Formats: sequence, structure tokens, C-alpha cells
Amino acid sequence: MTNELPKNMTPEEIDQRTVFHPSTHLKNHAHGKAGTPRIIDRGDGITITDRQGKQLIDAFAGLYCTNVGYNRQEITEAISKQAEKLAFYHSYVGHSHDPLITLSERLIRMAPKGMSKVYYGQSGSDANETQAKLVWYYSNILGRPEKKKIISRQRAYHGSSVTSGSMTGLPVFHNAFDLPLPQIKHTTTPHWYWNHEEGETEEQFSKRCADDLEKMILDEGPETVAAFIAEPVLGTGGIIPPPKGYWAEIQKVLKKYDVLLIADEVVTGFGRIGADFGSDYYGMEPDLMTVAKGITSGYLPLSGVIVGEKVWEVLEKGADEMGPIGHGYTYSAHPLCVAAANANLDIIEREGLTANARDTGAYMQEQMQAAFGDHPLVAEVRGVGLLSALEFAADGAKRKAFDPSLKVGARVSTACNERGLIARAMPHGDILGYAPPLIVNREQVDQIIAISREAVDAVTDELVREGSMKAA
Ligand SMILES: Cc1ncc(COP(=O)(O)O)c(C=O)c1O
Repeated sequence: MTNELPKNMTPEEIDQRTVFHPSTHLKNHAHGKAGTPRIIDRGDGITITDRQGKQLIDAFAGLYCTNVGYNRQEITEAISKQAEKLAFYHSYVGHSHDPLITLSERLIRMAPKGMSKVYYGQSGSDANETQAKLVWYYSNILGRPEKKKIISRQRAYHGSSVTSGSMTGLPVFHNAFDLPLPQIKHTTTPHWYWNHEEGETEEQFSKRCADDLEKMILDEGPETVAAFIAEPVLGTGGIIPPPKGYWAEIQKVLKKYDVLLIADEVVTGFGRIGADFGSDYYGMEPDLMTVAKGITSGYLPLSGVIVGEKVWEVLEKGADEMGPIGHGYTYSAHPLCVAAANANLDIIEREGLTANARDTGAYMQEQMQAAFGDHPLVAEVRGVGLLSALEFAADGAKRKAFDPSLKVGARVSTACNERGLIARAMPHGDILGYAPPLIVNREQVDQIIAISREAVDAVTDELVREGSMKAA
């Protein structure tokens, strides 16, 4: 066996025959009906280049992770140096290494006050799996074994493993997988545009979301509800910043019924919205936090569960009763991933990328509004920091959605692609998402918006020609 590929097939064909891709139409891909697979060859700064040499601006930072941009030698060198010194050792039974101590001290210093310890995994999904186990363990140690339910939100995204996939509130991640688990419930999506009643202000709508949460807790029985998990800004479900007053109202309800708050900061952590964490930006006081993606900018896989003092105290109590905690992954705190995280956080700090996300992010939001605020295809322009979305609708003012079979979001994303830009068609609704690397500058933002405008105009013309929307 060698690494040589068979000569009678292209790499694209071999991919179709051999690779099981995530979130992909398996049959169309395997039979070459989903277009030719794009094979990505390299990345540099905010651009990637495919095997045919086509360069694209990556305005989604991979999957909102390459925050410091591609091809940062400082990170690859840190990984290589660590590999030469200690490529692997586990962190079971108290074993540690210097980069791990450096990273953990740094995370606790950065995190909102009251955070105590960091447990490491490899993905956002496994970190949220850990969160559920910690919540259940916590309730058991406190002697309230019936307090186990976890409330999430419709359209949330928390991963695709069994428990994190249950926390996710998107039907495609549940259907035919026998999910969600019965102890995981979903409350109202805080999306004012689609869900507000006539005349309802954002503040009133936020209060109604909190009332819905309270009603769910009461219907289930407060003695059965242990935790609420949420992204500070709802991400993959549509890039939806919370309506005004949302987090204050929600936290009042959680406190009233002694329900833990898990802030899933996988997207919002490490500068994305112009603050270290979304929790800082929105005044959230989480008991537990999930981090991943931006912690290494995706150079190597690493996630973290940051445990607050209140939960930690109970976990210590558990040790008296149960002995060592029965939870661990071989690769928890893998030295190479931790070294990548330290080098990545050095870059974010030295280059002021969180401040750039705030300033260039504010510029991006303004320019998006200017370019699309009155566009006939665009129902809503929204975002915060370097997270942004365009929502398309057949009639924005009347809140009339397109027929999903028209696949408007996907068509605009393809039109962007053809023009050298990656903007993501979000999996639910007709939404185009942006999350460029945090190194993006104003000129590049202008370029991203100019290409997007051409793409949105082109799809609008197509839809008018097809009779799927009226001419403006
Ligand atoms: C908020 C949030 N949580 C969890 C996850 C799951 O992370 P992973 O894909 O690393 O398992 C994601 C992934 O997009 C996410 O956006």
C-alpha cells in the first residue's frame, strides 16, 4: 500500500466514492449529483484556494473558527515545538504540563467572574455532552435526582452528538435519529422579526420569551428542571442577536427556579462580537460555559467546559462520596492542541483582534445596512461584531417567506461563491451568514459587501424572471 491515488479516477471521484462528509446530501454526493466537490488546497490570511487555483475570500472563517486567519506561522511553529518536546501525555489522575497550566490560568482570568476550573475536550459537541453529565451529577450530589431536565431553544445549535444533538433545536439534526432525548426541551426562539406580534416592541417580546420559559418550567415542574443552555447570540440557527432586554428577563426566571445557566460560547468566545465572551457583552452570569472553535482558531481541535464556583463546590463534594470523577477523554488537554491555543490567544491579544471585531464589526454592520437595508430581497439585516446575516423573504414587510423549495439562501450563497466569496447559507430558512476572520479590515469588508450585493442582485433578477417575486 502506498499513498498514491489510482490513476484512472480524479481525486474528486475518489472523494465521492470514499468520503462520508458531514451535513451533506449523501446520495447526491456519492453519485456526483451535488456538483463537483471543491477540494481546498491552501489558506492564507482571509482567503482559501482550491485545487484548481481559484481563490475565495472566506467570509465565514471556515465554520466560524479561523479567527486569526489562515497560515499563521506562529501557531504552526508552536505546535511543532511542542511536538518535539512532548507530543502527547494524558491529563488523567492529576497529570499536567506547562502549556496546560498557562492556558487554564489564562482562561479563568479572561472568563467572567466566578469561574473556577476548565475541563478540556476536542469539540463543541463533546463539551456540551460533558455539560449535561455535570448538570446531572450536580443534581444527584445535591440529593435531588429528579432535577435533570435541560431546556434549550428551538433553532439553537449545540452540536450533533446524542445529548448535544438533542440540545440543538433544528429538526434536521433530530429526524430519523430518535432525538431529542426526552429530558431535553426547547423553548421559544428569540427572533423578533418572525415571532413578534403586531405592535410588540423588542422589550415586550423579550418579556414574552421569558414568560414562555417560565411557563415551560412550571409545566414540567421546577423540581425537574436543572439547566438552561443557550448561545449568547443564536448562531447556526440563523445568526440572531438577542432582542433588547432578553438576557436580563431570562436570567430573572432562571434565578427564581434555581436553574443553572450554561452559556454556549463556541462561536461568541474569544472576540467574535467585540468582547472576550458573549456573556460579557450581554451581562450574562453563567454557571457553566462551553468554548471551542476560536480557542485555537481551528488549527487543532480543542474545546473547554469552564465550570463556575457554585458547580465546582458540588463537584468537590461529589468526590467525597464518589471518589475520582468517572469522566475523561484520552485527548483531554492534548499538549499540541493546548500549545496551539496559547499561540492563538497570544495573537488575538497582541494584534487587538477583539477590538478589531468591535470596530471593524461596527463598520460591517453599518455597511450591510446601507447596502441591503432597502433591498427588495432582504427582509432583515442583523448582526453584532463580526457576525452578520441577511434574511431573505418574498415580502419582507408582510413577513411572507419564500417557498423553501426555491432554496433562495443557497442560491445567493452559490452566486457569492461564483464571484469569489464564501458566505454561508444557514441550514434553516433563507439566511446568508457572515463571520469573517477577526483580522478582516475595512477594505476587505467593502469587498465582501460589494460581491454580496452583486450576488443578491443576480438572484433577485432570476426570481423576478421566474415569477417567484414581484419586480421592485
Ligand atoms: C454554539 C455551538 N455549540 C456547539 C457546536 C458544536 O461544535 P463542534 O462542531 O465542534 O462539535 C457548534 C458548532 O458549530 C456551535 O456553533
